[in-house]
Amino acid sequence: MKISVVGTGYVGLVTGTCLAETGNEVVCVDIDADKVAKMRNGEVPIYEPHLDVLFERNIGAGRLQFSTSLEEGLNHGDIIFLALPTPEDEDGSADVSYVLGVAEDIGKRITEYKVIVDKSTVPVGTSEKVREAIAANAKSDFDVVSNPEFLREGFAVDDFLKPERIVIGSSSQRATELMERLYKPFVRSGNPIIIMDEKSAELTKYAANAFLATKITFMNEIANYCERVGADVDMVRRGMGTDSRIGKRFLFPGIGYGGSCFPKDVKALYKSGREEDYEFKILDAVLDVNKRQKVALLPKIKKFYDNALSGKTFAVWGLAFKPETDDIREAPALDVIDALLKEGAKVQAFDPEAMDNVKKKYSDQITFTDTMYKALEGADGLVICTEWSIFRTPNFTKIKELLKDKVIFDGRNLYDLMDIEREGLTYFSIGRKDVLL
Ligand SMILES: NC(=O)c1ccc[n+]([C@@H]2O[C@H](COP(=O)([O-])OP(=O)(O)OC[C@H]3O[C@@H](n4cnc5c(N)ncnc54)[C@H](O)[C@@H]3O)[C@@H](O)[C@H]2O)c1
Repeated sequence: MKISVVGTGYVGLVTGTCLAETGNEVVCVDIDADKVAKMRNGEVPIYEPHLDVLFERNIGAGRLQFSTSLEEGLNHGDIIFLALPTPEDEDGSADVSYVLGVAEDIGKRITEYKVIVDKSTVPVGTSEKVREAIAANAKSDFDVVSNPEFLREGFAVDDFLKPERIVIGSSSQRATELMERLYKPFVRSGNPIIIMDEKSAELTKYAANAFLATKITFMNEIANYCERVGADVDMVRRGMGTDSRIGKRFLFPGIGYGGSCFPKDVKALYKSGREEDYEFKILDAVLDVNKRQKVALLPKIKKFYDNALSGKTFAVWGLAFKPETDDIREAPALDVIDALLKEGAKVQAFDPEAMDNVKKKYSDQITFTDTMYKALEGADGLVICTEWSIFRTPNFTKIKELLKDKVIFDGRNLYDLMDIEREGLTYFSIGRKDVLL
């Protein structure tokens, strides 16, 4: 099939590449000329495991092409995916202007039947607005489909190739059949393609993200309470998670959720509720608790240093909002760094993939090192913000030798308390007892 994808970011590029992988001919359109030039040169503009192999293979086979021209995309594709940003607006709602702007342009340009598929996360009712924006000028028939994306950065290729479900919101038989044909190769093992109306599809995405953010946040509150009463959140988590109604996943406490989705999606759903005179009280609490949680290590650091952080140097391991991505949008590490800088401390940071993105934000305010151990040189303590695998079994002898105060503030509970005790380090984590030398 002939596919175009408008917006070639984390979602658009993975969508385009994976659709090419099943034999479709794909044109990815992006407004960012530098990005398009890079991709035409064979460079993957984001870090996403396994994407490079598929990217190279499909470019090589001539199935994956890039363009800055929407016109070219529209001439090529029978199905046009919109994978455009829907960032947080000033008032917390989702800014759908990128989506509606492109929809308007599409309306002015289409001359034959197209299926316009919205993959961006958008508030309920947006597909109707997209339809109106296109219809205002369209000279041909078209259908609008809502097809929210559930991929996780870091596992995006796998998630796209083997989705747990595909949600199609459509009231057109013709468009639904095309979408089912397109997605059939991805659900051969029997996972469902769930067909529903557009509004329900739009809400499914927000409901899923808001639920997951709530689950994480609930566990963070339990962890905070554990600290006050001397319980161990690891034990509580294991005890709870074995209940199949609860499940083991998304129960790991830490310094809050970040990323390009949960923060803005929870806010947008809350805001959409308010517009209908409905207050999502749970979501209001989730937003509050997560904001507090992102700096949950700060009181521990300040207490250890008697409130005197000025002149201290901290190594920070992990900057990305989660492992296996270079995405730093709303990353808790940034809140931690801001708070440390505000207290007059210095920061030496290391991340396997996200340092370039963070450099753009901080320029020379913090130092970046090319290995995790170099970040420890001359540092008083270590702060861990992202659970990258390489931080999980570090050389503790080296850590002890390099850190002046032999202290770790771990926002991701990476280490076993017994191991830390054996190694002779001071250790503060989330929802567990402190290990003091
Ligand atoms: N990142 C995720 O993990 C994820 C997962 C599921 C859903 N989503 C949703 O998917 C959507 C896209 O997210 P993303 O993370 O891929 O965003 P992104 O910022 O990585 O990519 C968006 C791309 O769109 C391009 N763009 C902007 N305006 C354009 C225009 N007029 N024409 C062509 N290209 C244009 C930008 O240059 C950018 O490359 C959002 O609604 C997001 O909420 C994201």
